[in-house]
This record gives sequence, C-alpha cells and structure tokens, in this order.
Amino acid sequence: MENIKAVIFDLDGVICSTDEQHYQGWQALADKLEIPFSREVNNRFRGVSRMACMDILEEIGGKHYTDEEKVAYATWKNDYYRQLLGEMSPKDLSIEVKFTLDELRARGYLLTIGSSSKNTKYILQRLGLEGYFDAISDGTNIVKSKPDPEVFLKSADFISMPYENCLVVEDAISGVEAAHAAGMKAASVGDAAENNMGDFILKSFSDLLKLLPSMK
Ligand code: BG6
Ligand code: MG
Repeated sequence: MENIKAVIFDLDGVICSTDEQHYQGWQALADKLEIPFSREVNNRFRGVSRMACMDILEEIGGKHYTDEEKVAYATWKNDYYRQLLGEMSPKDLSIEVKFTLDELRARGYLLTIGSSSKNTKYILQRLGLEGYFDAISDGTNIVKSKPDPEVFLKSADFISMPYENCLVVEDAISGVEAAHAAGMKAASVGDAAENNMGDFILKSFSDLLKLLPSMK
C-alpha cells in the first residue's frame, strides 16, 4: 500500500447509509408498478445510474415502457428518495466514518468522492460534509455508469493523481469492477465485502486505518 496517496470513496453505502433510502424509493416505485422487488434485487442497483436502474426494473417486471414513461417513473422515485434525504442531518454521519476520514487526512492522504449519484452534493450538504473532500466526481460529470471506470478516473484526474496511486472504497460489486477497470485497488464494505469482492475486505470502515499508514 506504500504507493497509495489518495482514497476515492463511493458515497451511498460507504460514507452514509443512503443505500437504504434508495432501496425504499425503488421498492415504493416497484409496488406502484406492480413489479416484484426485494432487497436482494436491489443489490443489482448498487453503483448503477438512476436510468440504468430503471432499465433493470423494466426488465425484472417484463414491462415495456416508452422513454418518457421511464423518465417519469425515475423522477417519481427520485422525488420520493429526496423526501427521505430531507430528513437527514449531520447526526447521520457515523462517528467512525468521520474519525477515519479525519485521521486519513491527518496521515497525508487526499480524499475524494467517486459516486454515480446526481444527488451527491445535496447528500454531502445534509451530512455537513460540504467542502470536505478534495474533489467530487459524481453522476453529474459522467456519461457511463459503474462498472465503467469513468467516475473514478475523473476523480483522480480532478486531483491530478496517477490512477495506480488511488485506493477505491466501495460497497457495490459494480463499483469494485469499476475500480479494477480503472487500474485501482479496491477495499470493500457491505454487499461487495459479503460477496468477497475487492483486494481488501473491510470488516468495518475504520479498518482503513490498518491498511493506510501515515505518509508523513
Ligand atoms: C449510486 C447508488 O451511488 O447512485 C445507486 O449506489 C443509484 O443505487 C445511483 O442508483 C444514482 O443515484 P441518484 O441519486 O442519481 O439517483
Ligand atoms: Mg454505493
């Protein structure tokens, strides 16, 4: 790990537990459209862009929607999801996550975000992390969704960091695949860790401090 100088964090399911609110939003839409849905199916949505999730939902339900209908349904889900996000506050940032981030920064690492979400900046603001990261690459600056590496390559580019010097932290299988496609190592939590994906499986977020020594 001596070559790691920057850590790129996924957001939903890594920095915060908004993966749960995403699930609730998709479950509500699936119920409305009478499509069978579950937490297990929702794991396929991790790391995947909103419209790509809508395509998967259409496929699961065996439905054929027009592009306009798909945009309308994805917007309905996003409105529902944003209402849940409105209840978030800095109290929803876990002490362990904040302590680990602060300690990594004190050890000399650059810290960035690499998320498919177009709600990234809003969520960071709700958590009191606005302006905290050295760069943010998110759903507003990418064309291709994970497992494509675009979001991580851009995150590294924003801080002018060679890709091999970045470690990605992910909860999505598609996110670990994206990190590897970017030529980066990946540390996994949550669903990706449970599926043994990643170069380092973290039992808890603060295990990052065992992996990344002080650079000073
Ligand atoms: C990712 C989530 O971070 O963002 C996905 O893991 C989600 O589940 C994607 O679909 C897009 O999010 P948003 O907020 O732009 O709808
Ligand atoms: Mg995630």
